[in-house]
Amino acid sequence: MTTLLIVQTAYLIGAICFILGLRGLSDPRTARRGNLIAALGMGLAIVASLFYPIADDQGNYLWIFGSLIVGSAIGWYKAAKVEMTGMPQLVSIFNGLGGGSAMLLAFLELRAQMDSADKVTLGVIAFTLFVGAVSFSGSILAYLKLDGKVRDKHVILPGHGWINLILLAASIALLVLLIISPSIGMALAALGLFLVYGFSFVAPIGGADMPVVISLLNSVTGISAATAGFLYGNQIMILGGILVGASGTILTVLMCEAMNRSLLNVIIGGFGTSTASSASQSDQDLSVQTAQPMDVAILLNYASRVILVPGYGMAVAQAQKYAKELDEMLSKRDVEMYYGIHPVAGRMPGHMNVLLAEVDISYDKLYDLDQSNDAIGETDVALIVGANDVVNPSALDDPGSSIYGMPVLEVWNAQQVVVFKRSMKPGYAGIQNPLFFKDNTKMLFGDAADSLKKIIDELKNL
Ligand code: TAP
Repeated sequence: MTTLLIVQTAYLIGAICFILGLRGLSDPRTARRGNLIAALGMGLAIVASLFYPIADDQGNYLWIFGSLIVGSAIGWYKAAKVEMTGMPQLVSIFNGLGGGSAMLLAFLELRAQMDSADKVTLGVIAFTLFVGAVSFSGSILAYLKLDGKVRDKHVILPGHGWINLILLAASIALLVLLIISPSIGMALAALGLFLVYGFSFVAPIGGADMPVVISLLNSVTGISAATAGFLYGNQIMILGGILVGASGTILTVLMCEAMNRSLLNVIIGGFGTSTASSASQSDQDLSVQTAQPMDVAILLNYASRVILVPGYGMAVAQAQKYAKELDEMLSKRDVEMYYGIHPVAGRMPGHMNVLLAEVDISYDKLYDLDQSNDAIGETDVALIVGANDVVNPSALDDPGSSIYGMPVLEVWNAQQVVVFKRSMKPGYAGIQNPLFFKDNTKMLFGDAADSLKKIIDELKNL
């Protein structure tokens, strides 16, 4: 077998691993294995690429191995150290680096092939430069916003939608010029403009829309990897890029559906950055009913069906182990407990599934949005553990609310609702929650883990 054939066989195996990996990621039970299989496929593809026979071998192995070692060490360290709540930031930065690589490859190819390449090749190079640069600068801004290093108000300009349209039109014009008469000066100007456009594209997207934009940028990075693959005739780059592009697009669409918004509406921005975000006067006049752990223990002792809705606060408090303990305790008393999982609860897709899987809560007990809403009417107690936006009734009944139209868990239809949180502060979307003021709602203030622990202790005495 020639070296090329071995390399291509390895690519084929790598591609099969990617597809099997993606398949595994579609279910929480197989997600871990799927991730591992995809990583093995990527490892194989990288090793095979090192043996790819090239005509002008310039003996760059020192650079390649040096970068591989340094990059792998940083990636491993960052991934091992990251808190679950910091995962979206890590995904953004990794994604940006992917786009940045495609951007650099395109720039170098343009420099090398400027005088010799045909227009189709130049078109592919210019397009790769564009999508790679947009993905790079957009992801960096997304990272800075998610990490709280940059506030929306600092990067949103008046008429930002129009500014973006002008930047897009100018980018397309420069892209075409780059194909017609390529030069280093033109390439640098185009690269600068593309970077500015990527930054400006993400700037007006704020608050709760960030997961959608990250997923969108992820698919853009996939496209840039695929077009870079065309430049080198590298099948695994093309296939891997297409898979990332397609899965990122599907995830983007699913998240938009979960929030009941169109992608255009997300891109134009506004959600979660609304100025109508604080409590209204009438809310401020209302008072809430509070509960103590003992009161909640008594409620649970007489319940026959309980829903627990986890949210971002559960991740912060690391309260999942106490949720599991309470679940076991209640099932011994013949109380049925199930978990209402909202698709955008927490800070990343599947966040709540990951938390609950950590403590081995059975997947059969995890109800999706529709299943939960069907069951809540027949439920005695709803425990809202660190969730807020995903149980906000304004999404259904207040057209002026910035989350109006987003499907939510209709927990107020349970007999009794107990909300676990530390204060009256709003959640991610920055808006007040009328659920807290309903007649059948009681607030249990304090850290969610502490409160659950106290309820368990009280229940032991009942
Ligand atoms: P949020 O609306 O963000 O509310 C979290 C609540 O947890 C807050 O009200 C906070 O109140 C409470 N909390 C924080 N730490 C706590 C602790 N130690 N103990 C008890 N409570 C604590 O969360 P959610 O309902 O899960 O909604 C998610 C939001 O994030 C949505 O707006 C969604 O669109 C957005 N988002 C989602 C994703 C994805 S893909 N899941 C990614 C980014 C953003 P206190 O501070 O008063 O305790």
